[in-house]
Amino acid sequence: RTIYLKDYQAPDYLIDETHLTFELHEDRTLVHAQLVMRRNPARGSGLPPLVLDGQQLELLSIRLNDRELGAHDYLLDDRHLTLQPDSAEFVIDSSVCIHPESNTALEGLYKSGKMFCTQCEAEGFRKITYYLDRPDVMSKFTTTVSADRQRYPVLLSNGNPITSGSEDNGRHWATWEDPFRKPAYLFALVAGDLWCVEDQFTTMSQREVALRIYVEPENLDKCQHAMDSLKRAMRWDEEAYGREYDLDIFMIVAVNDFNMGAMENKGLNIFNSSAVLAKAETATDAAHQRVEAIVAHEYFHNWSGNRVTCRDWFQLSLKEGFTVFRDAGFSADMNSPTVKRIEDVAYLRTHQFAEDAGPMAHSVRPDAYMEISNFYTLTVYEKGAEVVRMIQTLLGAEGFRKGSDLYFQRHDGQAVTCDDFVKAMEDANGVDLAQFKRWYSQAGTPRLEVGSAYDAEAKTLTLTFRQLCPPSPGQAHKEPFVIPVDLALLDGQGRELPLRLAGEAAASGTSRVLAVNEAEQSFTFVDIPEQPLPSLLRGFSAPVKLSFPYSRDQLMFLMQHDSDGFNRWEAGQQLAVQVLQELIGQRQRGEPMVLDRRLVAALKSVLENDGLDQAMVAEMLSLPGEAYLIEISEVADVDAIHAAREFARRELAEALFEPLWQRYQANRQASRQSAYVATAEHFARRSLQNIALSYLMLSEKPEVLEAAQEQYREADNMTERLAALAVLVNSPFEEAKAEGLALFADRFKDDPLVMDQWFSVQAGCPLPGGLERVRALMQHPAFTIKNPNKVRALIGAFANQNHANFHRDDGESYRFLADQVIMLNALNPQIAARQLAPLTRWRKYDLSRQALMKAELERILVSGSLSSDVYEVVSKSLA
Ligand code: ARG
Ligand code: ZN
Repeated sequence: RTIYLKDYQAPDYLIDETHLTFELHEDRTLVHAQLVMRRNPARGSGLPPLVLDGQQLELLSIRLNDRELGAHDYLLDDRHLTLQPDSAEFVIDSSVCIHPESNTALEGLYKSGKMFCTQCEAEGFRKITYYLDRPDVMSKFTTTVSADRQRYPVLLSNGNPITSGSEDNGRHWATWEDPFRKPAYLFALVAGDLWCVEDQFTTMSQREVALRIYVEPENLDKCQHAMDSLKRAMRWDEEAYGREYDLDIFMIVAVNDFNMGAMENKGLNIFNSSAVLAKAETATDAAHQRVEAIVAHEYFHNWSGNRVTCRDWFQLSLKEGFTVFRDAGFSADMNSPTVKRIEDVAYLRTHQFAEDAGPMAHSVRPDAYMEISNFYTLTVYEKGAEVVRMIQTLLGAEGFRKGSDLYFQRHDGQAVTCDDFVKAMEDANGVDLAQFKRWYSQAGTPRLEVGSAYDAEAKTLTLTFRQLCPPSPGQAHKEPFVIPVDLALLDGQGRELPLRLAGEAAASGTSRVLAVNEAEQSFTFVDIPEQPLPSLLRGFSAPVKLSFPYSRDQLMFLMQHDSDGFNRWEAGQQLAVQVLQELIGQRQRGEPMVLDRRLVAALKSVLENDGLDQAMVAEMLSLPGEAYLIEISEVADVDAIHAAREFARRELAEALFEPLWQRYQANRQASRQSAYVATAEHFARRSLQNIALSYLMLSEKPEVLEAAQEQYREADNMTERLAALAVLVNSPFEEAKAEGLALFADRFKDDPLVMDQWFSVQAGCPLPGGLERVRALMQHPAFTIKNPNKVRALIGAFANQNHANFHRDDGESYRFLADQVIMLNALNPQIAARQLAPLTRWRKYDLSRQALMKAELERILVSGSLSSDVYEVVSKSLA
């Protein structure tokens, strides 16, 4: 069944108060709910039937205003309970029995290991009790939790703790009250034997907030980084957005079994343990940065999501796009802004662009869905953040802040839409963003083709822009977007020229933003003394596919001279793409591959430039990934892409051995001499060291093998240790590889998050036999298909990162993935639907692979009773 945005109606009834009591037991949980309700005055005066959501609930009793209802007083099906109120104000009391102990979907109330926890977004609360489970129904919650005291000494819910007590049967209870009205998707409950790390934060108005991170006792030593990140995020939100925390306590709980990264439940964020636990010995730098970003993201939701929430789930990007944008700003400020931007853009272009070109393509604000869980996507999150970023680019930082202040002030306590967000931006700045809003409604990635014509006589440069957006499912034709193009013009020395458009009185600086808003449009700059080289779309100012006919020499010039750090990197990437595509062509034609030496020269000068931020050097040395090369291919030849990229890496390794070896040794030496710190400078040093090692290892020289083994054995941190393990795993040194893997597994067998990395390194290894290795690893005692992190680490890493093996030409890997999806469909539909993504991209490959992939999708389709999650993805990708 498909739900449409155009069918939205405000709720017939409201729930002013929600009083919940949970009796947690090993074999069942009883949930008593008292709902203080009234007719929604905005919907008129009659009394329509009350339709409560509820799934997988065993109804024990239900009362309407103290009247016990019998089976003939209500209608019950597997999704709803319908009854007839007889007055405009009334109270519903219900009791249901549920089974968290056997809930493998990890939605609603479930058990992760020995603890009880919840995940209610988007529609999990209906698996807890009968309710109006929609975000525009906001209620004041009080929650009492009762459980065995020994097993569950800690009982948590949203808001502030009010009272607690003991029963004489070994049980105890606690009551929590959340003073802020909220939708049910922000409800949370946790019960378990948890320990906590505590700290304090003084807000800008001098209120004291208690901060607590709850974990299982063995993880107490892995919380400090998350705690530090949280305090930085709280301060940053005050400074950057004027947002202050509003409760007396803020809690984070780490759970091992979790479908996503984390969840922003009011005052009680629940996290995938992978998104909160981090210490040097067990988590990489990348993991540390991910923890910092997710802790901030969930914290920022307190305003962008909780205080101001979504009217309906079509508006999901209202909170997610905005909050991703906010966390990106935070991470940029805490680390290197240019490196953060490069990472985000590379991620967007590889994964979101692929989604936007595939069968599940949808706009940032989708207009229809079957299963909302399928719409927690790269488009809603990452492209949604780009849309907010473009608003900021168009309005300027100050105008944007005015707009966000107005948005928060105007809509505090409300459930609103993306239109309301844009309206606040418009009203605060006196601008019209009507055409801009097409970014919310039109799917697909626009192409932006730029041409330039220099008139030496008139000293003018005319830039011509042509935009076109390919059709996407349900949207054959697209109207022109507003595309902010941040640009500069460089002279022959690489200096920026003053920019004055024809008709303007004076130049306004040397870089500026043009708002391209027609299908075809030109801009003429005057007083341009010589033919300049344009630096276009600086900082990736819009999520488009830009093309400009740069020569390789011009790209090398931009790499050296562009004052925009992002565009320096981008020029290097474009150069590498051109060179790699040439190699791919040679390979396909059966010609010998010959690497354009300009790429060697370009990377050599980067490596030898001691003035560059080492993180930038590492980014510049990273060739575009296989997934990106697949995305930009018309028909992706996976084998040729892999062969060409490996060939280029080997050639570079050989030609640049000396400078790489120098950089490697200097950085490794620095690592040996200093203790681990999670700072941008140290991240940068280790990332350059590790990418250098991965190149060096391709030489297969004994001194490099020795260096890798030394780093593996002696490293005091996971970043170096795992990188060394990865180069061993990807090397031909069978003995060293086997030894490394065994040592690692032995050392970390009791740490599930570290074992996830051990699985991933092997799942991603492109050497032949990948499927067989993955099949064998699924039998490893540390693997379980019931844990989403394990599924992602092994099955997900194989299908999404190991292109050479996943696309083996007999289709066996497709078959393997389909088997896992069929199994997961019964256990955990959300995870099943997500693991499917690689198969949905079948249109990208040759006809023989297309047929093999489609056959597996069809096999899934008829494999038995499909969840709405899996059904939606499979049926749409076959349509
Ligand atoms: N709102 C969470 C976040 O911070 C994600 C929740 C995802 N839930 C789901 N059912 N997919 O992004
Ligand atoms: Zn979020």
